Amino acid sequence: MTTTSDQSVSDAVTAGAHATEIARSGASNLRGAAGGGADPARVSAVVGAALEGIRAAIRDHKVTYEEFDAFKQWLIAVSDTGEWPLFLDVYLEFEVEKVAAATQQGSIGTILGPFWLDGQAQLDSPATLPMRDDEPGTPMILAGQVIATDGTPLAGATVDIWHTDADGWYSGFASKPPAGNLRGVVRCDDQGRYEIHTRKPAPYTIPLDGPTGQMTQAAGWSPWRPAHIHLLVSAPGHRTLTSQLFFTGDPYLGNDVASADKPELTLDPQPTGNGDQVRSDRDFVLEPEA
Ligand SMILES: [Fe+2]
Repeated sequence: MTTTSDQSVSDAVTAGAHATEIARSGASNLRGAAGGGADPARVSAVVGAALEGIRAAIRDHKVTYEEFDAFKQWLIAVSDTGEWPLFLDVYLEFEVEKVAAATQQGSIGTILGPFWLDGQAQLDSPATLPMRDDEPGTPMILAGQVIATDGTPLAGATVDIWHTDADGWYSGFASKPPAGNLRGVVRCDDQGRYEIHTRKPAPYTIPLDGPTGQMTQAAGWSPWRPAHIHLLVSAPGHRTLTSQLFFTGDPYLGNDVASADKPELTLDPQPTGNGDQVRSDRDFVLEPEA
């Protein structure tokens, strides 16, 4: 979310609290994988390796008590603001996604991030996402077909879509866009085809008024995400695809704070000849459920 608006002052806490609530309910892990359980050998291996990485940083960089105390205070602030989902999804989820993707066939995907919401408008294709009467931004059509890895069109497929408005704000997490704005679950036709009318989203920064953004800026790292459309593509009996689509020419491609952008996920929307409307076509290939 950008900080060009006065609404940013309280947004880190509001967004953090909301994302934490969703993560607590378990709904933030939509890939449906079973939990890791409590196998002592695995706990020891994974937690041990993570702790050793931190200990190595302390040794190699001769971390002082002042820095150790600042680290404690920062961790407490991440908890107080509810930013654990944000921090984890921005700085670690892409590695988890890579591990999951190693066994995934069909279209490649990327991270879910912390801004998905359940219970959005159910729409039939062709669909126009809920938006304000004067919704700013370039009108955009995203269309395509959902098929199986053997090429079969997937009747009953749905495309759950959410993205920022043209000012970089997510409904449900920032105060300005109304609830449900530019979010929806679109039912494809009996050939798995979908067509979604929306507005082109904008790049945004992670909230800069919370500890994740402050740490990012303290390190001199870019807090920006390239503009993107989030998608969950599902069909009965098939593994849900979690993805994002980016845009050619975006200045933040290749320097995504969440490390989620991939060249294969870039759109190049073309004018339709209808005013300033643009269109991109993108098919999705889903593998059968294991
Ligand atoms: Fe996003």
